[in-house]
Amino acid sequence: MTALGGRVADEERGGVSRPNRVAMLEKLADLDAQHGIAVAGGGEKYVERHHARGKLTARERIELLVDPGSAFLELSPLAGWGSDFTVGASVVTGIGVVEGVECMISANDPTVKGGASNPWTVRKIFRASQIAEENNLPTISLVESGGADLPTQKEIFIPGGKLFRDLTRASARRQPTIALVFGNSTAGGAYVPGMSDYTVFVRGGAKVFLGGPPLVKMATGEESDDESLGGAEMHARVSGLADYLAEDEHDAIRIGRRIVVRLNRGRTAGVPVLSSGFSAVAAGEKLGNHRSAGGSRRGSFADPDADPEGLLDLIPTDLKEPFDPREVIVRIVDGASEHNGRPFDEFKPLYGTSLVTGWAEIHGRPIGILANAQGVLFSEEAQKATQFIQLANSSDTPLLFLHNTTGYMVGKDYEQGGIIKHGAMMINAVSNSTVPHLSVIMGASYGAGNYGMNGRAFDPRFLFTWPSAKSAVMGPAQLAGVLSIVARAAAEAKGQAYDEEGDAGMRAMVEQMVEEQSLPYALSGMLYDDGVIDPRDTRTVLAICLSVIENAPIKGAEGFGVFRP
Ligand code: COA
Repeated sequence: MTALGGRVADEERGGVSRPNRVAMLEKLADLDAQHGIAVAGGGEKYVERHHARGKLTARERIELLVDPGSAFLELSPLAGWGSDFTVGASVVTGIGVVEGVECMISANDPTVKGGASNPWTVRKIFRASQIAEENNLPTISLVESGGADLPTQKEIFIPGGKLFRDLTRASARRQPTIALVFGNSTAGGAYVPGMSDYTVFVRGGAKVFLGGPPLVKMATGEESDDESLGGAEMHARVSGLADYLAEDEHDAIRIGRRIVVRLNRGRTAGVPVLSSGFSAVAAGEKLGNHRSAGGSRRGSFADPDADPEGLLDLIPTDLKEPFDPREVIVRIVDGASEHNGRPFDEFKPLYGTSLVTGWAEIHGRPIGILANAQGVLFSEEAQKATQFIQLANSSDTPLLFLHNTTGYMVGKDYEQGGIIKHGAMMINAVSNSTVPHLSVIMGASYGAGNYGMNGRAFDPRFLFTWPSAKSAVMGPAQLAGVLSIVARAAAEAKGQAYDEEGDAGMRAMVEQMVEEQSLPYALSGMLYDDGVIDPRDTRTVLAICLSVIENAPIKGAEGFGVFRP
């Protein structure tokens, strides 16, 4: 995505911190390199071979499928990072706009191990299908896969059944499923078209069978060939598994787009264009019959009052240094306009000041924001958050959590003041809130602070991280220090001398290990977020998400669990 410009130049606002910018730009260059690995798929050799066979790559197929100039919100691009598998996990998933309809698109990458599904592929597709379910999106599968990654079959065979279960449950929920089959779809993979509402098979390309010719020969002794067992022509004329026979890949994509038109969902996309800079991203009106009620004034909104470029200067290289999240908020929410008198109406600004809460709009869509200010969450912050979350639920307003927290405060005074029950109250509110939640991890997200601020386990509709993010049970140095104290006490209890030299080595090793595990690529690799994004793209990404969530009704909770005030 392109970086967006802004109204008020950094220099005019003052406080520009160049070392922060330099560090962030370095991280962003590295992020580009990591994304480049995913985009390269199986590498030059396999991409060339694929093209030489007259086939399009997964990304080329997606590009032709989505509306020209529309945004494609790619999800989990770094899945599998840090594992033995190719970054991206041999599948591309994301939300794209097809004939004006926001759709979940999932495309096997046949240049990576023949498009075979490894454990990370399966997790990535599970996540895509969860997003489709929660946001009432049609699913389009672009199929060309060697099925299960055979060497790791034990990790995927049993859980992998959920892929097919999810497809048919989506159909039962009237969330349409469309399979465009370009190539191999063998064995279990044959059930992707099998379970989909609509199927399009490419003549001469699609091969869909439970067992290929060698397996059939072994099982029954029958002689057969690919075409008679599972070719597109056979399935279109004989078995009836193919609803449409496409002449070639382009034709399949054309038919797929026509199928979407006939779904009769109306045009749902709210963010049609991403191409040319700051004002290019305009929210369109929702016209379909799946819209939620609500008072947003989409179609008229102002650019942020401060330049999003300045986000690169804000995040300190040392996360222990606090930064003011209002400076982030003013760069991602709509600026002041005729109908939006103030960009951000802060709620309870004088109470629990380590957490900023307030109301704003993004692309004309209302949002409540909770953002950490000083890092630590105290009882007052937890109580304020709980009240704010209840207010958002009572007005059916989606929530955005901007993380930069080291967790809830520890210490005698705070324990006696009820920090556990107040933290629990906030976690209760987050867990039982039913308005859609979006989370962005800007900096630290440690301990139960990650939970209270709607971390992954609390099912935000979407969760993105910045390259500056770090997330773990606690900071690396603190974690190593706790282990050291425990080991020292254990040695003392046994009456043994403590190995000081060994302790220093252990602390350094643990610190480094936790540091590596806390970094965004490692977390993204494990599907603990939906992607690492350039801070400057945050507004656009959130605007797309807010448009997507409007495909399902937005309804606040009518009750929460038992609070202990
Ligand atoms: N599991 C693991 N690796 C697989 C695989 C699978 N199911 N299918 C293919 N691969 C690997 C190949 O070993 C090869 O690896 P390499 O490049 O490191 O040597 C790479 O993917 C490309 O395979 P190749 O056969 O050269 O590609 P192709 O495009 O000519 O054919 C397939 C692709 C998918 C049609 C073919 O590989 C095939 O039939 N695979 C087995 C399919 C199957 O029976 N799956 C069982 C599903 S439950």
